[in-house]
Amino acid sequence: MTHPTADLSAGMAPELTMEQFRHIAAMLRDRTGIVLADGAQKFVVARLAKRLRRLGHRGFDVYLSLVTSPAGAGEFDLMIDALTTNTTRFFREPGHFDFLASRVLPRLIRKAREGGRVRFWSAACSSGEEPYSLAATILEAFPDAALYDVRILATDINREMLCRAEAGLYDIQAGRDLTPALRAALFDPSEDEGQAAIRPELRALITFRYMNFMEPWPVTGPFDVIFCRNAAIYMDTATQQKLWADFERVLDAEGTLFIGHSERIGSSLSHRLELVAPTAYRRPMTRIAPTSLAV
Ligand SMILES: C[S@@+](CC[C@H](N)C(=O)[O-])C[C@H]1O[C@@H](n2cnc3c(N)ncnc32)[C@H](O)[C@@H]1O
Repeated sequence: MTHPTADLSAGMAPELTMEQFRHIAAMLRDRTGIVLADGAQKFVVARLAKRLRRLGHRGFDVYLSLVTSPAGAGEFDLMIDALTTNTTRFFREPGHFDFLASRVLPRLIRKAREGGRVRFWSAACSSGEEPYSLAATILEAFPDAALYDVRILATDINREMLCRAEAGLYDIQAGRDLTPALRAALFDPSEDEGQAAIRPELRALITFRYMNFMEPWPVTGPFDVIFCRNAAIYMDTATQQKLWADFERVLDAEGTLFIGHSERIGSSLSHRLELVAPTAYRRPMTRIAPTSLAV
């Protein structure tokens, strides 16, 4: 019979009781807004087995005592990191980058050239592929962007992903599906031991920061462009609605919000954000009724 404290050194997966699973799911939800469906025990075991092994813990009972103790605050953060899903890729959902280039950037380039402040936000940027794709799109259309007040903020809750993003080094395979032109826009031509480095001028446009959507927001905006894609999908409807409303608050009057292709902005916000392209939203134009002129 497998016991909840099965020996990891024997290569066995630790067993997670339903009570322990619910406890972990509740901590994850409180910290991040991410909801785990009942039945996601295997997912939790797969994600946390490495942490237990590294600590030499034989089972989840000891691990849970650690992460809920004051001494385990650091491990609690690592547990949360291990439970986030960070799948991403360069130019994911490419229609968004086409829309950005053709319909959004022309006005923003004029704005910057006239001395305006232009801000992009890749919220939930994971390992950096999204903000670097944004930077490549911007520099393609606006090669001298660095001479103007143009910045990209890239945030995530997962500190390990942020470190990878800041390093800007990717397995050469990461860009294998991209056209040669997009690869050239992203990477330095020199390749080092199977790794490709992001072009320095792209990195220079971006600031990477830790941010948890569930905590008070350290940003006030206004942002001209917000990408928050494929993070809200893991949250419940009420949390998603709050998130969209929070983004709407920091969106510039003429800004564009891009969300993931499987995500939707519910009807409660439809008077404040309208669809302008697949999963891209702007504020509805204020329609001013013509006043009759007294002659
Ligand atoms: C699937 S990735 C999406 C990456 C990228 N936006 C894309 O679409 O390719 C989701 C990211 O959301 C981040 N995330 C999850 N919960 C978060 C929260 N409460 N605050 C900030 N980021 C969060 C995760 O760490 C993860 O990197």
